[in-house]
Amino acid sequence: MTPVNPVTPRRILITSALPYANGPIHLGHLVEYIQTDIWARFQRARGHEAIYVCADDAHGTPIMLKARAEGIEPEELIARVREEHEADFAEFLVDFDHYHSTHSEENRYCATRIYEGLKAGGHIATRTIQQAFDPEAGMFLPDRFIKGTCPKCGAADQYGDSCEVCGATYSPTDLIDPVSAISGARPVARDSKHYFFRLTDFAAFLRDWTGSGRLQSAIRNKLNEWFEAGLADWDISRDAPYFGFEIPDAPGKFFYVWLDAPIGYMASFKAYAEKHGLDFDAWWGPDSDTEMYHFIGKDIAYFHTLFWPAMLHGAGFRTPTAVFCHGFLTVNGQKMSKSRGTFIRARDYLGHLNPEALRYYFAAKLSAGVDDIDLSLDDFVQRVNADLVGKVVNIASRCAGFITKRFDGRLAGTLPRPDLHELFAAEGAEIAEHYETREYAQAMRQIMALADQANQYIDEARPWVLAKDPERASEVQAICTQGLELFRILAIYLAPVLPRLAARAGAFLNRPELDWASRAQALTGGSIQPYEPLMTRIEPAAVEGLLAASSSNLAPTKPAPTPRAGETPAMDPIAETIDFETFARVDLRIARIATAEYVEGADKLLRLTLDLGAEQRQVFAGIRSAYRPEDLNGRLTVMVANLAPRKMRFGVSEGMVLAAGPGGGDLFLLAPDEGARPGMRVK
Ligand code: 2FM
Ligand code: ZN
Repeated sequence: MTPVNPVTPRRILITSALPYANGPIHLGHLVEYIQTDIWARFQRARGHEAIYVCADDAHGTPIMLKARAEGIEPEELIARVREEHEADFAEFLVDFDHYHSTHSEENRYCATRIYEGLKAGGHIATRTIQQAFDPEAGMFLPDRFIKGTCPKCGAADQYGDSCEVCGATYSPTDLIDPVSAISGARPVARDSKHYFFRLTDFAAFLRDWTGSGRLQSAIRNKLNEWFEAGLADWDISRDAPYFGFEIPDAPGKFFYVWLDAPIGYMASFKAYAEKHGLDFDAWWGPDSDTEMYHFIGKDIAYFHTLFWPAMLHGAGFRTPTAVFCHGFLTVNGQKMSKSRGTFIRARDYLGHLNPEALRYYFAAKLSAGVDDIDLSLDDFVQRVNADLVGKVVNIASRCAGFITKRFDGRLAGTLPRPDLHELFAAEGAEIAEHYETREYAQAMRQIMALADQANQYIDEARPWVLAKDPERASEVQAICTQGLELFRILAIYLAPVLPRLAARAGAFLNRPELDWASRAQALTGGSIQPYEPLMTRIEPAAVEGLLAASSSNLAPTKPAPTPRAGETPAMDPIAETIDFETFARVDLRIARIATAEYVEGADKLLRLTLDLGAEQRQVFAGIRSAYRPEDLNGRLTVMVANLAPRKMRFGVSEGMVLAAGPGGGDLFLLAPDEGARPGMRVK
């Protein structure tokens, strides 16, 4: 009898980051929900009590303004978006035990309890600060809602916190000619009393907490940099008008969205616990013996590894067992881009492709690290077809026909190769370890190697040859039973990733149980249901259809919406007219990008060496968000060759390359037609 690795049941609370309630779920989000869901399903398959909760992140200025732009109340907006999010998650088989909203009574209760706990401990301070105020809109402006000219390099139309051209970061009060992105008015400085969480009180606690094996090494290193730079108290209040919770003892002041967002994990669990009769304190109390894990993107590590544990500890709650960060998603090697059609919404994907194909592809790419993962669409088609259709499902389709047609669906009573069954079942220990440590790519490799072995067994046993000899019928039955048994074990191993396929496999084999331990009990003596294809090949045309659908989302359907944080307003208006002489003074040249490299310490810049034929120039270009250096080498583009050299933080920039688009991932370097040569003047 194969050992089934009996495991002691654990109690595990699992979360994914809460998506903002003002936009659709896209494939970038799904990396995380799929990664987390696989882990939660795996833990349940191992017999643990794994509770997976999430919620919409429903507060903040961008949501308030989006609702205003649509002429509806924020409550209506967040209810609609929540419904859309939940439908997308369900179709991608992301199986939350509970999905909630941060705009809920549970969250108000938990946020208040944490705030009051922190206050009682002396960890809340107040200070008057000066902030940009939009006199027309009658509200304070978050940095991203102020635009103006960069004080360092003079680039126009930059956000209030940083310049996309030179990479400088600054305060909005430093911007030249600032305007409110909401009303276009010039902001004025105005005083306001703000509430601060005294993070500095927790410096020693956090040093200890972050160093105690809860974080990936890359994140720990980043934290050490933050510790060295010094912790600062955190501004947790915002002035009315604001969509959020009013601070209990401070009329007109609201909790900042990032304060009550992680508390949403707690609130979602609370709602679940009330429904299912769980003891909230046994999970969240300071002495809890349960485990708690947050899956997040690496960009929000600061909130989850500093503010959040400090808030919990300061208010007398348990802290997370670990925080698991993942990298970003690129599509075809580049940041997702709306205009390239690679900013793919979950809904559009579902209209063209099978959600389990994406789950498998992400699993085949995911590791426990924080590296970005790439969805290369050609590789996606090839990989899913080769692995799932060509290897795994193929085993079942090769064997099922014989059993159904020749043996009336009855399986053999014994296996001809019990050693193969033993081997497949024994590999479960290592595969489980890979899942446990979030090394999904390794788990998938190991499972596919087993699928290869199963196919090889069938190839060598050649049931289709034996089937011609009526005297060898029982051998055919036994070989095909063996093949289906190996397939059954593979379905169990793949079930966390492919729950629907595994469930259908279980129904077809009349063995619906998919928990890890059930792999040991071989499939013999029973009967099967008629076989129906469990997965079909992806046709490249489906991917093309998806890209076309994603590009068509670009067309604006409404008047230009108010930008939300992190997004850029639609199109720039056409600038004032200039005379021809003014234009003619701009010397535009074709340039070849001889080298392109990252600039250490600059998030937005690439250092380009541009070849103009007769000379080379160094240019710093704010295009890092849209291009990887290796994709630019050798490419022709257009540059302003007579722009006065500008001294930047990282060196002198001797010209400027031309790119179109609002910024971020949506940026397109101009490129000449074939035949253009470096140095040619653009006229
Ligand atoms: O970055 C985001 O999309 C946030 N809405 C994540 C919040 S995670 C948690 F803190 F709630
Ligand atoms: Zn600048």
